[in-house]
Amino acid sequence: MQLFPRKANALPTVSLFGALGGGVFVVLLAWYYLSPEFYEVGYQPDQPVPYNHAFHAGELGMDCRYCHNHVEQSPHANVPSTQTCMNCHGVVATDSEKLLPVRESWATGVPIEWVKVHHLPDYAQFNHSVHVNIGVGCASCHGRIDQMEVVYQAEPLSMGWCLECHRAPEEHLVPPDEVTNLAYLEEIKQDDERYAQLISTNLERIENEGIKPPQNCSACHY
Ligand code: HEC
Ligand code: HEC
Ligand code: HEC
Ligand code: HEC
Ligand code: HEC
Repeated sequence: MQLFPRKANALPTVSLFGALGGGVFVVLLAWYYLSPEFYEVGYQPDQPVPYNHAFHAGELGMDCRYCHNHVEQSPHANVPSTQTCMNCHGVVATDSEKLLPVRESWATGVPIEWVKVHHLPDYAQFNHSVHVNIGVGCASCHGRIDQMEVVYQAEPLSMGWCLECHRAPEEHLVPPDEVTNLAYLEEIKQDDERYAQLISTNLERIENEGIKPPQNCSACHY
């Protein structure tokens, strides 16, 4: 493919700038489409330990923040350290074969190498604490993790997807103390009256608290 046809040389500077901008865009597009599969919905890598969210977060009912304790304070979420697992597995299922890598990590001090599932390209900025503290629930971006035996990417995490929510945040906000209640929004949506109530509460919050998700390029790309 010829990106800059020879006759472009003769065009005025203005269109040269256009061509350069187009060039950058093509590079970004190529980068995007050649990127590995981990940007895609359904991506579900093998993990070094068969840790099960449906059991720990679903059945045992553990709060997400017991393990992902940085989500409210930091731009980046974290996966837990081996210590967090050993709080229980120092006494629970101590002879389990499946927990062997956890006990090894504990004995040697070498962290478990969890494979990252969700991944944004470096040229896009994202801040967890901002979203979580204002009342965007984990489920809006990660799906029903509390029902997943093995975590997979449930949402596209594409620019269009980010903007869809930024244009209509009233459809997505939950009360901030319900962000780790992954069923909250799903349940409310089944009841027209409660959903209408939530929307009007959210519109009030957006007005009173000045909630204004950005749509300008430089908010997410700098
Ligand atoms: C007992 C600890 C624990 C609890 C509780 C827990 N998680 Fe996790 N989480 C992990 C571990 C370990 C991993 C890394 C392995 C994996 O992906 O399964 C992980 C991975 C994840 C990932 C994928 C991270 C990536 O690589 O992109 C998401 C998203 C996530 N958890 C969300 C949640 C949500 C939402 C909850 C609450 C419903 C929750 N977790 C509860 C331990 C926990
Ligand atoms: C709050 C306590 C608690 C914490 C913290 C915890 N677990 Fe568990 N886990 C349990 C219980 C209870 C079981 C069920 C044990 C059984 O069936 O005997 C279990 C079972 C498991 C099993 C299945 C064991 C088997 O042989 O079937 C794995 C694997 C596991 N946990 C991994 C982890 C990892 C990895 C972490 C840290 C990210 C973690 N757990 C943190 C309580 C916990
Ligand atoms: C508005 C969308 C959004 C919300 C809400 C959200 N996340 Fe995320 N999460 C993301 C994106 C996007 C990434 C990938 C970030 C990156 O690659 O920089 C991610 C990554 C993660 C990771 C992987 C971190 C790592 O470095 O391996 C964990 C764990 C996680 N999220 C947990 C949670 C939990 C728990 C909640 C709820 C308390 C939550 N997230 C709420 C969008 C969101
Ligand atoms: C489900 C809804 C939702 C999704 C999805 C979402 N956001 Fe947001 N975002 C919000 C809300 C609500 C705010 C406003 C917060 C405020 O005004 O305090 C916000 C604010 C922001 C901000 C400004 C605050 C800051 O961090 O500097 C940035 C940047 C941002 N989002 C980036 C992203 C990116 C990148 C994605 C996609 C990977 C994304 N958002 C996906 C709801 C969402
Ligand atoms: C709310 C956050 C947000 C805003 C605002 C935003 N972007 Fe993006 N943009 C992203 C994310 C996230 C990606 C990565 C998408 C992916 O990995 O699929 C991206 C990707 C891109 C790409 C790569 C190709 C593509 O379409 O995926 C280009 C080019 C781009 N953005 C340009 C822009 C321009 C120009 C603007 C302003 C008109 C803008 N962006 C505004 C979040 C944003």
